[in-house]
Parts: sequence; C-alpha cells; structure tokens
Amino acid sequence: MATVQFETTAPAARRHDVLPMPELWYTPALAREMEPLYAKVARVVTPLEWPQFAPIIKAINDLKKQRNAVVLAHNYMTPEIFQCVGDFRGDSLQLAKEAAHTDAQVIVQAGVHFMAETSKLLNPDKTVLIPDLRAGCSLAASITGEDVRMLREAYPGVPVVTYVNTSAEVKAESDICCTSANAVKIVESLGVPRVLLIPDEYLARYVQTKTDVEIIAWKGRCEVHERFTAEELEAFRAADPAIRIIAHPECPPDVIQVADFTGSTSAMIDWVKKRRPAKVVLVTECSMSSNVAAGAPDVEFVRPCNLCPHMKRITLQNILESLVYMRYEVTVDPLVADRARRAVERMINLTN
Ligand code: 13P
Ligand code: SF4
Repeated sequence: MATVQFETTAPAARRHDVLPMPELWYTPALAREMEPLYAKVARVVTPLEWPQFAPIIKAINDLKKQRNAVVLAHNYMTPEIFQCVGDFRGDSLQLAKEAAHTDAQVIVQAGVHFMAETSKLLNPDKTVLIPDLRAGCSLAASITGEDVRMLREAYPGVPVVTYVNTSAEVKAESDICCTSANAVKIVESLGVPRVLLIPDEYLARYVQTKTDVEIIAWKGRCEVHERFTAEELEAFRAADPAIRIIAHPECPPDVIQVADFTGSTSAMIDWVKKRRPAKVVLVTECSMSSNVAAGAPDVEFVRPCNLCPHMKRITLQNILESLVYMRYEVTVDPLVADRARRAVERMINLTN
C-alpha cells in the first residue's frame, strides 16, 4: 500500500500580506474580557492553563475578522480550539457542508489534511489554510488513485464509494463519497447489488451489518480506533454494568459488538446529549470526551485516552500563525479537483 499523502498540495500561488504577530499578554483587562469564553471550557481547561490560552484565542478571533476568515473545527480538536475559536464545529460531513456555505474568504481547517482538501474542493475560489501540513490520516495514507484504478479493473462495473478520509486524488477516481454518518444511505442509494466501500475495512464491515448490498472492502485502518479492544470495554462494563459504551464505526467489529450505540462523531455526541447517561465511555479520539464534557456536567466520562497524532498537530499557536502568515495554503490540481468535487457533491446532494 502506498503512503503518499500530500501529492496534491502545491505551494501557495497567491501572495498575501503578512500581518504583525500580535502581542500575547494576559492582562487583567483581557482576563475580564475573556471570562464568558472561559465559562464555556471551565470544566475541561484548568485555571492554570487559561492564562496561556486566552491571549492566543483573543488574537485569533481578532485576526479572523481582519482576514474575513472562519475556523472549521472538527470534533477531535482540543476544547480551547473547539469551543473558543471554532466558528463551525462538527463531524466531517457537517464541516464539508459548512465549507460549502460560508461567505468568508479564508477557511482555516482545524482538522486534518483530507478535510482541508474537501473544503478546497467545495470552495475553489477561497483560500483554504491548514495550520500544519503534517496533519495526515492513516486511512487517507492507505490508498492511492492508482489503487482505485486497479480495483476498478478487478471489479468491472462495481461502483466505488469512497470514505471522505481520503486524498482528492482518490476521490477523483470514485463514483461518490460517504462519511461515517451517511455510509449506509449512500451505499443503498446506488441501487446495485455490490459496491466497493474503501478504504476503511472496519467501516465497510460495519456497513455490511446494516445492509443487504454486498460490500467489497480495502485494507485501510484508522490507527486510533483500531487500538481499542473489546476486552478493555468489557472490563469497564464489569466494573460498572450501568456504563454506556458508544463507539465510532472505524473501531474493530468486536468492539462495535460490545457497544450500546455506534455512530459518527456527531451522532455519538447527540446520543449523549439526548440520553444523558450517568457514566459513558466514548470509544473514539480522546479530545471529543472533553468537548462533550464541557457542556454535560451531569455525565461522567470514562476515558481510554487514544489521541490522534495528526489531529493533535493543530494547536492554538499554529492556528494563530496560519492567520498571521496565511499559511499553509491547500491547493488541488484543477483536473483532479473537478472529478473529486463531483464525488463529494453527489454525497452532499443525497444527504440534503
Ligand atoms: P467523523 O466523520 O465521524 O467526524 O470521523 C472523522 C474521523 O476522522 C474519525 O476518525
Ligand atoms: Fe484519520 Fe483516525 Fe486520525 Fe480520524 S482519528 S484523522 S481516521 S487517523
């Protein structure tokens, strides 16, 4: 399997003015001004951490106005990013839809590279920035456009449904995209007996349990979710039989079997918000528990803390730098982009 990740990212073609780096002092006046924002994260950000975060948050929020920029924050961002600088928050489907609707001229993707590429596909005339170009994804790295062409030869006539966690080059070779929130619906919408659902083997296996359409999978894995085990979850349940276990479909099948509910990151959040379990374990990237805990004081979160090293490359500091220096711009070859956009838009039209 190839591991090429950033082949569609070219250096910025446009020139943007560099702005002066703001002074980052935590003064009493700033502390007062930032009190309402701190209240949003007080359960998950300590008073010791806040004086370091607050001046950067203020500077980012000021720069967003200056640059006519928005920050799209994925559910896996740390709470100070997610709650305090994110203009739009959500799972990858929600962020893709917001990307399609924003009037801002600049989009800063607080997420990973494939998400920034999707934003660029849907906003070809806007500047899309990712604060750290190394924010990749093991699923996106598991497959190339060449692999998809090879699959098409091996399975002639079988439509290719591609998880959004892929490069634009892979999307361009696909019939339609899906996310974990809509994969079953997309597969069934094609009205065929067999589909290729790539590249996440575990998502494909999960979808297979929900549909009669025959699913052909690829061998990609999420390096975060594949680490969870059914044994560790059963141990949580043995310690407290009332605990609720909520899993992401990128988890291995035996983990999903132990779970009370399986869904996309946003579906997991909605489940907790509606059901308000006394104690819950979110079997997914660790920061998401903090983001939900910030607004759910009545719920206890048990955290087997698996962090996504790619998501964690995005920090307040590099979001600030991205707005000061207008870096790193994500671009997609126009020939690739046209075909990839078609696959993403087909998905969005079906889910609207
Ligand atoms: P969602 O589409 O559920 O947000 O998942 C994206 C992701 O990267 C999960 O690991
Ligand atoms: Fe990719 Fe997994 Fe990280 Fe999501 S959590 S970005 S699927 S490596």
